[in-house]
Amino acid sequence: MKWKIPLFKIYWTEADVKEAEKVIRSGMYWATGSQIEEFETRIKEYLSAKYCLTFNSGGSALYALMLAYRFKQGDEIIVPSFTFIATAYAPIYVGAKPIFADVEFETFGLDPEDVVERITPKTKAIIPIHYGGMPCKIEKLNEVAEDHNLVLIEDAAESFGAKFKGRCVGTFGESAIFSFCHNKVFTTGEGGCVVTENKKIYERLKLIRSYGRVTERGYFLSAGNIDYVEIGYNFRMSTLLAALGISQLTHVDNAIAMRRKNAKYLNRNLAKVDSIVVPEPPSNNYFAVYQMYTIRVLGGKELRDELMRFLQEKGIMSRVYFEPVHKYSIFRNLGYKELSLPNTEELSSQVLTLPMYPQLDRCDMDYIINSIKEFFSRNKINEKETNNKGM
Ligand SMILES: Cc1ncc(COP(=O)(O)O)c(C=O)c1O
Repeated sequence: MKWKIPLFKIYWTEADVKEAEKVIRSGMYWATGSQIEEFETRIKEYLSAKYCLTFNSGGSALYALMLAYRFKQGDEIIVPSFTFIATAYAPIYVGAKPIFADVEFETFGLDPEDVVERITPKTKAIIPIHYGGMPCKIEKLNEVAEDHNLVLIEDAAESFGAKFKGRCVGTFGESAIFSFCHNKVFTTGEGGCVVTENKKIYERLKLIRSYGRVTERGYFLSAGNIDYVEIGYNFRMSTLLAALGISQLTHVDNAIAMRRKNAKYLNRNLAKVDSIVVPEPPSNNYFAVYQMYTIRVLGGKELRDELMRFLQEKGIMSRVYFEPVHKYSIFRNLGYKELSLPNTEELSSQVLTLPMYPQLDRCDMDYIINSIKEFFSRNKINEKETNNKGM
């Protein structure tokens, strides 16, 4: 289906093309090379993080972190169910058990009080997400982790550049991951990274990312001795993508500013619609980057789904991010059938993610706003008609 207004568009420049082209034209080192370290340094500097390593996806970054922390069978890791499935899969990759906690409605992030309820002697870590570019209650979650001696790993896949009290998300926990998949605020097509302040984890990750290999000057540069000291995999990002990432990062602030401006316009206009809750940050402490623009439709799942269909007829793409992960067949079959997370389930029945990207112009936004208003005014008329018929 060709959408009049898709959910996302990539924000790219001619400079991005030139940087990637340089690597191609070099005729060498498309896999590993200096662009990787340079990209990592730039990310580290942007976020004020201690160590950074790039990966070939956000999911690989999360998986590698599970291996680096040596989580294993018998360990429990607290995760949200209101997330992309990668967060919930991560513990399972290493035999640990995901324990789902509920979310709160202000940021759609993990509810710190519910997290506390789910801590047991087996709990090793908490993995909150920052939903769609909105920081979660990360300060509180950090306190919970510290009080219970747990590792806090931020799944910041969707939230590069988001801040809480002026500090970038991804630097509150001991480690964090980001995704650079093509719907994120800046992108390398596929890709991701880990940032960490733990040197031991950083050193282990370097090995895990590259088959556990130790070489003198890098595998493709040196003809010298090689040793393999850890079970690893090829989780590496290529230099081609790192070069693209370096260039993308130079205009990420621009992209974020445009997203924020668009979100402000949508918020101002959609807040007037009775049945909608717009994504406003809870206070000025929250700097949201609006990787996604997600409204809540009050009035039930049926109404939300109807709105989605109505928008589809208008050529406007929208989508439900997220269905509760614990309701998917894989988790039901893994023993979570009876689990109930009231906030997660209610929120999932309300959310609708609308198009959001830097280039979204006024005309497109007005079309979205007017379509939504049209839907609700028609619905009011239908409601009145039904009521009259019933009299
Ligand atoms: C919250 C969250 N975690 C993890 C990931 C995985 O990232 P990737 O798609 O780069 O593997 C995503 C992807 O969008 C995500 O939204």
